[in-house]
Amino acid sequence: MQQKLWINGKFEESQAYKSLKSPYSHEVLADIAQASAEDVKKAIDAAESAAKEMRSLPAYKRAEILERVVELLKEKRTECAKIIAREAAKPLKAALTEVDRTILTYQFASQEARKINGETIPMDGAPGGEGRVAYTVREPLGVIGAITPFNFPMNLVAHKVGPAIAAGNAVVLKPASQTPLSSYKIAELFAEAGLPSGALNIVTGSGSTVGDVLISDDRVAMITFTGSPEVGKSIRENAGLKRVTLELGSNSAVVIDENTDVRKIVPRIVAGAFNFQGQVCISVQRIFVHEAVFSTFVENFVEEAKKLKLGDPLDETTDVSALISQADVDRAQSWIDEAVKNGAELALGGKSTEGVLHPTVLLNVDLSEKISCEEAFAPVVHINSFKDFDTALHSVNDSKYGLQAGVFTNDLPKAFHAANTLHVGGVMINDFPTFRVDHMPYGGVKQSGTGREGIKYAIEEMTELKLVSFHLN
Ligand code: SIN
Repeated sequence: MQQKLWINGKFEESQAYKSLKSPYSHEVLADIAQASAEDVKKAIDAAESAAKEMRSLPAYKRAEILERVVELLKEKRTECAKIIAREAAKPLKAALTEVDRTILTYQFASQEARKINGETIPMDGAPGGEGRVAYTVREPLGVIGAITPFNFPMNLVAHKVGPAIAAGNAVVLKPASQTPLSSYKIAELFAEAGLPSGALNIVTGSGSTVGDVLISDDRVAMITFTGSPEVGKSIRENAGLKRVTLELGSNSAVVIDENTDVRKIVPRIVAGAFNFQGQVCISVQRIFVHEAVFSTFVENFVEEAKKLKLGDPLDETTDVSALISQADVDRAQSWIDEAVKNGAELALGGKSTEGVLHPTVLLNVDLSEKISCEEAFAPVVHINSFKDFDTALHSVNDSKYGLQAGVFTNDLPKAFHAANTLHVGGVMINDFPTFRVDHMPYGGVKQSGTGREGIKYAIEEMTELKLVSFHLN
């Protein structure tokens, strides 16, 4: 199958195509169009004229289009999950969960489309402001450039396209080169749902060609990006006065205090560590356990992790499949080996078969090891013990990242203390850092990014606040 570009509501040929292979079976899934700079400009032209139409489309019509996408996704749930499973090697169970979340994300977008509002401003609060009625409105920015990652090829696209359309913008989307088919499917559903032509354009190809044009073209008002800190920084440096939202990486941590019922929480933390092979920005990577419950926790954690079934993503019993590339297996393996060489204990895994890195548990890792302080994005965790709660909080904060953190404790003052102390975008008390529902504010501090997603918050980023003041005399 040849997958052409989606520009101005129709498929467009490109001059070059590149084979897309399954990360698990290595079969060719499709030949994917590689947009040239001219193709990207054409997509921006289309978005620029559609943005005018979108701006005047009433909120209820934008909401109805999003509702129709929700209905179509419900009808095509299994088909969509299989696309994700094939191109991302996401185990089918997790791919189905992703489609369910995508449905909710577009549902929230549809609801929020009807609620975009401003406020009245008491202008007489300052001398000279008397005799005025003033209010704010939120207006769409116009053309939004969205650059999305491979790990949630439908739901992280929904987190950009959903609020953009809800707010009356047009989008040029560059999906991850590893997982473009999910985005083309979504474009098809939006077209069927009646979205004006040109309001959503998909341009696949190299980051340097497609990304560079999106970032440098003055008609694009905002770049919303999820991916690595390196690319995020370069976008920020080159985006000029464009608005930029960056959702970047993390090495998320969870703290488990004394008196925690560790047997009860282990299955959830194992899921947080190994779901989708740990390729989630808020995967559990660093686990700090109070010394009083350390050995029970480790024993239960390793037992639970051993139950995970490795293999084909299309098999509905599989829990862990191939990483997105062999290069990622090699990178993670070298970080594991380095930590072990420097004294960490390997409690489970530490090897790979045919692109599948086995769930790996390391104990007592030095926090300066790459497997601790860099983002692993692989099914690897380390478990370290602590004596003093504050030391554990300090270790969580001692990171260049700050997306989400989890804390299990039965002690209420300690819970509030952790909530105040942790320098992250979200603190999950008595839960893992991997917790996310799609309407909550989501985003990070430090090298984990800037700006927030979660439909209502993304709409704030994707609209301009305008003040209107009436002078009454
Ligand atoms: C991410 O990897 O940033 C998204 C995590 C999620 O939506 O659960």
